[in-house]
Amino acid sequence: MKKLIDELKDSNNLSPDKLLLLLNNMDNENKQYLHTKADETRLHIYGDKVYMRGLIEFTNFCKNNCKYCGIRKGNRQAQRYRLSKEEIIGCCAEGYRLGYRTFVLQGGEDNFYTDERIMDIVSTIKSSFDDVAVTLSIGEKTYETYKKYFDAGADRYLLRHETNSRELYDRLHPNMSYDNRIRCLYDLKDIGYQIGAGFMVGLPGQTNEDFVKDLVFLKELQPHMVGIGPFMPQSDTPLANEKAGTADKTCILLSLIRLILPEVLLPATTALGSIDPKGREQGLKAGANVVMPNLSPIGVREKYSLYDGKICTGDEAAQCRHCIENRIKSAGYQVDMSKGDHISLQNN
Ligand code: SAM
Ligand code: FES
Repeated sequence: MKKLIDELKDSNNLSPDKLLLLLNNMDNENKQYLHTKADETRLHIYGDKVYMRGLIEFTNFCKNNCKYCGIRKGNRQAQRYRLSKEEIIGCCAEGYRLGYRTFVLQGGEDNFYTDERIMDIVSTIKSSFDDVAVTLSIGEKTYETYKKYFDAGADRYLLRHETNSRELYDRLHPNMSYDNRIRCLYDLKDIGYQIGAGFMVGLPGQTNEDFVKDLVFLKELQPHMVGIGPFMPQSDTPLANEKAGTADKTCILLSLIRLILPEVLLPATTALGSIDPKGREQGLKAGANVVMPNLSPIGVREKYSLYDGKICTGDEAAQCRHCIENRIKSAGYQVDMSKGDHISLQNN
């Protein structure tokens, strides 16, 4: 297996058969070797910097019904909230004071936020704070809408493809279309966004064959960012009694993604930190180089309950900033508070 890992590191490519062989044969020794090679690759491209993004979860209303998601429309238990423009700007101001230069605005697909409202929020952030990047993560829209947000100043867009198995996608997303999700990613890229795709790890019925499809798809799409995290059940969803994904498998996939897309920005996600107290540190050592601490007001954090056991719901932004800095340092890396563009867009 080490030969295959070397081949992947040298060529940033591996046939689907070989990827499957690797995934099917991940004993401890191979895993360690894989993580080391992924870490070397990220050190070579980005050094030991870990980029920080301030996450603002601004609405938990959603018109979709993704079976895994705690804020799905069908969840009557969810206590719904929306942040006003002023509250969102307030979160950014606190984040800016703490040093953040990227704000990620994430929410369910909530029609209350019309194109005009989103454009107004984005352009106000861009004009209120010097040299910041705005990332949107608000689901599937038309080309025209994505273009409007971009023209208002949005720089990046996160839209996980969730799984590249069409069959699994259809099972988990009633009344949604896999083709439309993929169309969105290509539209976003075409418009000029730095785009982020990604998937969940350990979905019910998900196989190594499915992960190979995800990896092949990512290679083809060439996104600037890839967000992956373990699936975690949420008690008020149809998948409440399913098994969660693991930190171990997530870290293997993080390393494979780092080797396939050496320049990619790769978060050690909150879900990874939630499934295992040391998950984010392990993710960084496996090739991740981004973290996204929460800047949402404390009062709403619990309500953005995508899955059970989510961390950081009770910590002030300043505490999170401090906590994550310690974790990054203890894993052997350095906090970088700059905008943290993809390396191809950095001008130094
Ligand atoms: N509505 C936007 C969208 O669809 O891209 C953004 C919000 S959505 C809640 C953000 C991500 O949360 C999803 O892409 C999904 O991968 C993740 N997520 C949702 N439920 C989850 C669960 N139970 N376990 C792990 N991740 C989950
Ligand atoms: Fe809408 Fe998950 S069901 S964000």
